[in-house]
Amino acid sequence: MTQPSLSAPVSTNDIRRSFLDYFAANGHAKVASAPLVPQNDPTLMFVNAGMVPFKNVFTGLESRPYVTATSSQKCVRAGGKHNDLDNVGYTARHHTFFEMLGNFSFGDYFKERAITLAWNLLTREWGIDPNRLTVTVYHTDDEAFDLWRKIAGLPEERIIRIATNDNFWSMGDTGPCGPCSEIFFDHGDHIPGGPPGSPDEDGDRFVEIWNLVFMQYEQVDKDTRNPLPRPSIDTGMGLERVAAVLQGVHDNYDTDTFKALIGASVAQSGAALTPETQASHRVIADHLRSSGFLVADGVLPSNEGRGYVLRRIMRRAMRHAHLLGAKEPLMHRLVPALVAEMGAAYPELVRAQASIESTLLQEETQFRRTLVNGLRLLDEATASMEPGATLPGETAFKLYDTFGFPYDLTEDALRAQGFGIDRAGFDTAMAEQKRAARAAWKGSGQRASDDVWFDIAEATGSTEFIGYTAEEGEGQVVAIVKDGARVERAGAGESVEILFNQTPFYAESGGQVGDTGTLTAPGVLGQVEDTRKYLGRLFAHATTITEGEIAVGDALHLTIDRARRDRIRANHSATHLLHEALRQRLGLHVAQKGSLVAPERLRFDFSQPSAIDPAALALVEADVNHHIRGNSPVATRLMTPDEAIEEGAMALFGEKYGDEVRVVSMGTAKEDGVDKTYSLELCGGTHVRALGDIGLFAVVGEGAVSSGIRRVEALTGEAARAYFTGRDEKLREAATALKSSPDEVPARVAALVEDRRRLERELAEAKKALALGGGAGAAPAGPETIGDVAFLGQVVEGLDPKGLRGTVDEMKQRLGSGIAMIVAVNDGRASVAVGVTADLTATRSAVDLLKIAVATLGGQGGGGRPDMAQGGGPDGAKGNEAVDAVKAALAAG
Ligand code: ALA
Repeated sequence: MTQPSLSAPVSTNDIRRSFLDYFAANGHAKVASAPLVPQNDPTLMFVNAGMVPFKNVFTGLESRPYVTATSSQKCVRAGGKHNDLDNVGYTARHHTFFEMLGNFSFGDYFKERAITLAWNLLTREWGIDPNRLTVTVYHTDDEAFDLWRKIAGLPEERIIRIATNDNFWSMGDTGPCGPCSEIFFDHGDHIPGGPPGSPDEDGDRFVEIWNLVFMQYEQVDKDTRNPLPRPSIDTGMGLERVAAVLQGVHDNYDTDTFKALIGASVAQSGAALTPETQASHRVIADHLRSSGFLVADGVLPSNEGRGYVLRRIMRRAMRHAHLLGAKEPLMHRLVPALVAEMGAAYPELVRAQASIESTLLQEETQFRRTLVNGLRLLDEATASMEPGATLPGETAFKLYDTFGFPYDLTEDALRAQGFGIDRAGFDTAMAEQKRAARAAWKGSGQRASDDVWFDIAEATGSTEFIGYTAEEGEGQVVAIVKDGARVERAGAGESVEILFNQTPFYAESGGQVGDTGTLTAPGVLGQVEDTRKYLGRLFAHATTITEGEIAVGDALHLTIDRARRDRIRANHSATHLLHEALRQRLGLHVAQKGSLVAPERLRFDFSQPSAIDPAALALVEADVNHHIRGNSPVATRLMTPDEAIEEGAMALFGEKYGDEVRVVSMGTAKEDGVDKTYSLELCGGTHVRALGDIGLFAVVGEGAVSSGIRRVEALTGEAARAYFTGRDEKLREAATALKSSPDEVPARVAALVEDRRRLERELAEAKKALALGGGAGAAPAGPETIGDVAFLGQVVEGLDPKGLRGTVDEMKQRLGSGIAMIVAVNDGRASVAVGVTADLTATRSAVDLLKIAVATLGGQGGGGRPDMAQGGGPDGAKGNEAVDAVKAALAAG
């Protein structure tokens, strides 16, 4: 049999390139791989086929500027409909991560051209011997059968009709689907196995390398299948399989990429490749790829959803690293080999290298703490088991709960000895734990209305937040709550809380407000006014439905208000910078006591005993702006809470932490000549990509909240710019009013203030002169004699009451012997002082005379001594009457 032609591409990277170039030369648009987390499908855990990113193009929901396309799509099959996790390591062709090469026609060409293109690439471009190719067609598809005869000239016995679902491809329970035709490569009779459809088809001799799907239908639900607008083509070729063919090997793990990764695993673990270690090295190589690519696409290990699939993959690899005898964490040390092999084709891998390494290191460090004890428990449990027996479910649950062993890891560990696990017992133990958690929560005095949220959480699991990377996406409605009770559907005009399996909407927490936005589907529109979090893990979208109806099970398109989220991001990142700047400028006693991160502004409350010196606050503002201009990227990592605190991360006020925390770091600053991270905080919020995105930072307020706690309010971006511009505008107005320029305003104002002080002084003196009996230039009014006593009485508007006694004293001196009285009227109120010279106090008391004046002025009290008394009253208009009343009293003797 002939080997591939000499011109055939050999390395995996060349094969990928050659495939894409071939279809591009045949008029197809080259489309980059979409991220592994599906952007357009709520039902899929990961992209599991090359057609997934084009799903809505097939169904006519979306149109693109091309009608034919080609791609090399990253795929993960480790959860959901297509799940290969359990087999990886033990077979020649199972992978959790693989690349699917494909060509697509969206209503352009159909079966004939699809078969022609495929046949020519394999046999002409790549020189694969046609005699080693066999194809299958769906049993009723005579058209495809005839085309294979005509185009490839294949004999009828190598065009095999298959009646099963193997030749009817569908993406998942719903989505585009159709009959398909598969191309098999015959690896030779030295390998056991028969052609497809034969009794020994499960052997490894005939390997499917390419699937051509004749997309004709859309599966809407399990009973409804509609025709697509136009027949289309979706093909998928496993790159790893075709690389094996072109490299003349039978096993995918013997191709160049895998040899390099397994070589790295051998070198870094120190465990040679032997029949005993082979499975472990393969698991490690495969899981390194899926872990690396998932982290690069924003998935981080967690205890639920996609994050848990990633954790299972990582821990499975880490157990195998342990089996190989690795004494230190291994996986992160293999990342450079992965990047060297695949970084050129997938630049996201290069960009995320540091984050992949730190995530793997963190996960392995954490898992190694419990791994050995868990394995010991497992050994003890299996020591007395007969071959073929099952491990009790409670033991598997204990391994899961206490030692962090995912179920399938335990299964994998038991595989070599041929033991199974009592799955039902495991599930019962899990259910019991959930019941206990609920009872404990209720015992803690939470509201009874939380019941509805518990029911939802138990039935549907946590909401998966996809909003760190996505601003829109598809979500499937898992529950609707109206007035605290679950409902199945809600229609236009109703306000309800809607929960989805996944969402890009951030639910209010950690000071950051919830997102707003829209929920849409054909004929349906809902306005999300707020997003709230219940039980710490359910995201409820407070929605008013304005069009159509929304029911549990519906898939909707979720779009957050991007501009608003951008402002929130800027304010949140600025809050972190502000926190650090305050610590550095005011001291390490500064600790966060609360915060509000809204689109319009940010507010930060912190411990600080006294008001902040404006100069220090100006430095804080300058520091924050300095880091904004530095424009360094904001990095997010996962760590255990202890490690995070050890690294110096500042914990957020009032947050509960799980097994791992998200640590957000931003900015760099020199410390002892070394670049250090400026701000490091535990935070679940959303942040800018790079600090320059904040734009500008302005402190607009500082004040006390309560004793020992101060608050700083600030603005960022456009709001900060508008604030500064507004201030500038006011300064200009002031300059115009002062008939000066903005630069001269401070000096002009200082001069005006000085002028005013001088004028006030002069005016006071003039008033006093008036009181003493004459205005400036006016002849002083003389005293009058009442009975046998000289009397000098005055009412003076605007005379400062503070100087009243002094003035009355001066008047007494002028009189020599007599009685002086002044009423000073300010803002309608009167102050009055009466003085009696010493020679007269035996017969006339200032206190008595004052009482008369005060009574006239509508006041009460007042007092002093016989020679000087002072008081006041509200009726300033009666000043002259008061003087007359005193005069009358004197006249009466
Ligand atoms: N979508 C088809 C598959 O995944 C090509 O096999």
